[in-house]
Amino acid sequence: MRRTALGIAALGIAVFGLTLMGSIHRGAAGDTTPGGDAQAGKAAAAACTECHGAKGIGSIEGVPNLAGQHAAYLAAALKAYKSGDRQDESMIDIVAKLSDTDVVNLAAYFASLPPFAQAKILAKDAAAVPVDEADPFAAVKEATADCALCHGDDGNTDTPGMPGLAGQHAPYLILTLQAYRDATRGDETMQALVADLSESDFEDMAYYYAAMTPRRAETPAVGDAVAGLAVTAQCVNCHGEDGNNKDPKTPRLSGLDAEYLATTIAAYKDGSRAHDVMRDAVLAMRQSDVQDMAAYYAGQEPKALSIRKPLTTAEWVERCDRCHGQGGAGDDPRFPILAGQAGPYLAKTLKLYHAGDRANSMMQAMSFPMGKSDIQKLAAYYARQRTP
Ligand code: HEC
Ligand code: HEC
Ligand code: HEC
Ligand code: HEC
Repeated sequence: MRRTALGIAALGIAVFGLTLMGSIHRGAAGDTTPGGDAQAGKAAAAACTECHGAKGIGSIEGVPNLAGQHAAYLAAALKAYKSGDRQDESMIDIVAKLSDTDVVNLAAYFASLPPFAQAKILAKDAAAVPVDEADPFAAVKEATADCALCHGDDGNTDTPGMPGLAGQHAPYLILTLQAYRDATRGDETMQALVADLSESDFEDMAYYYAAMTPRRAETPAVGDAVAGLAVTAQCVNCHGEDGNNKDPKTPRLSGLDAEYLATTIAAYKDGSRAHDVMRDAVLAMRQSDVQDMAAYYAGQEPKALSIRKPLTTAEWVERCDRCHGQGGAGDDPRFPILAGQAGPYLAKTLKLYHAGDRANSMMQAMSFPMGKSDIQKLAAYYARQRTP
C-alpha cells in the first residue's frame, strides 16, 4: 500500500516542507520565461480552442484555464506531456505534433491573453465552501455521527463488548476497516456499515480517531488483572508492557473494554477471527488466562498518540501561498498561478498528486497528509481568488 507511512508523513511534513522551502531560491520573475513569438503562437492555438476556449479560458470540466498563466510554466507543462512525464489522454496526441518552437510560441501566446486570475467569478465557484472553518475535524465528525452511537463521540465508549477507537493506531484502523469491507473480518454490523465507504473515508476516519485522547473504558472487569500480568509475557513484544505499543499495524490494547478483549482473544483462539500470528500467540491459553489478560490490559492507562491535528483551510493556504504567492497569484514562473483556475481541475490535479499519479516532489510532499475534504476546500478557495 502506497500510504502505509502516512502517519509518519503527517508528522514529518512540517520539517520536510521547510527543507523544500530552503532549497528554493526565488529568482526574479521572468528569468526562466522562454522567448517565444505570441503572434505565431496564436495561429497554432487554433488546435487548442475546442477544449481550452477561444481566449484560453475553457468551460469543459477538468480542462485547465491557460490565459495569463506563466509562460515558463505552460512551456514546461507541454514538454512534460511530450516526454511522457505528465500523462493525459486529451493532451497526448496534441503535443505529439508540436515542435519545440511551437511549444514556446504557444506558451507566449496563452501567457499574453487577459488572465483567468482576473476573469469574472463564476456562480459555482462563488458558492463554494467557506475557508474559515475553525474545526478541521468538522467534516469527519459529521461522517462518523453513526459510528458515535456505538463507539462514542470521540471514540471512547463505556459499552461492554465495544472496542474503543480513540488513540488507536490509524494504520491498524484502516486495515481493520478494509478487512470488514472485504469480509475477511466477520462482523455483519461493521461489514454493512463500511460497505459504502471509500478508502479516503477510511483514512479520514482512522486519523480522526487516532488523534483523539483515549481514556480507560469504565466497564466491569472480567478476570484477575494481577494474574493477567503473569501470562502477558508472550504479548509484550508486540503489544507493549502497558498495551501502548508503537508498531502502527499492531493494535493498542490499553484501557480497552475487558469483555471486548476477552471475546476477541477467544475469537483468535477458535479461528472465528482469522489471524495466524494471534492464533499462535493465544492457542495454548486456558479460558481463565484469556480473562485475566483481558482484565490486565483493560486496567492499563492508555496514552494519546502524537498525531498532528489536521490543518484548517486557512492554515493550508498559508503554506501553499509560500510558493504559489498570495492568493495563489504569485509572479514566480516556476509556480503555476492557481487564483481563478477552474475549481474541478484544481481538485482533480490535487487528487493526482495525492495518489502519486502526477509526479512532482514538492506537490507530493504538500498533498500527502491531505484528506478528501481538504482537497475540495482548497480547490474551491483558489478558484474564487482574483487579482485586481
Ligand atoms: C481534447 C481537449 C484538449 C485539446 C484539444 C487541448 N488540450 Fe490542453 N489540456 C486538456 C486537458 C484535459 C488538460 C488537463 C490534463 C491534466 O490533468 O494533466 C490539458 C492541459 C493542458 C496544459 C497544462 C496546464 C496546467 O495548468 O498545468 C497545457 C499547457 C495545455 N493543455 C496546452 C494545450 C495547448 C497549447 C493545446 C493546443 C496545441 C491544447 N492544450 C489542446 C485538454 C485539451
Ligand atoms: C451498532 C454498533 C456499531 C456501529 C454503529 C459502528 N460500530 Fe464499529 N464496531 C462495533 C463492534 C461490535 C465492533 C467489534 C466487532 C468485531 O469483533 O469484529 C466494532 C469494531 C470496529 C473496529 C475495529 C476495532 C478494533 O479494535 O479492531 C473499527 C475500526 C470500527 N468498528 C469502526 C467503526 C466506524 C468507522 C463506524 C462508523 C462508520 C462504526 N465502527 C460503527 C459496533 C459498531
Ligand atoms: C507477534 C506479534 C504479536 C504477539 C506476540 C501478540 N499479538 Fe496480539 N495482535 C498482533 C497483531 C498484528 C494484531 C492485529 C491482528 C488483526 O488484524 O486481527 C493483534 C491483535 C490483538 C487483539 C485484537 C485487538 C483489537 O483491537 O481488536 C488482541 C485482544 C490481542 N492481539 C491480544 C494479544 C495477547 C493477549 C497476546 C499475548 C498472549 C498477543 N496479542 C500477542 C500481534 C501480536
Ligand atoms: C514548495 C513549493 C510549493 C508549495 C508549498 C505548493 N506548491 Fe503547488 N506546485 C508547486 C510546483 C513546483 C508546481 C508545478 C509542478 C508540476 O508541474 O507538476 C505546483 C503545481 C500545483 C498545481 C497544479 C497547477 C496546474 O495548473 O496544473 C496545483 C493545483 C497546486 N500546485 C496546488 C497547491 C496547493 C493547494 C498547495 C498547498 C496545499 C501547494 N500547491 C503548495 C510548488 C508548490
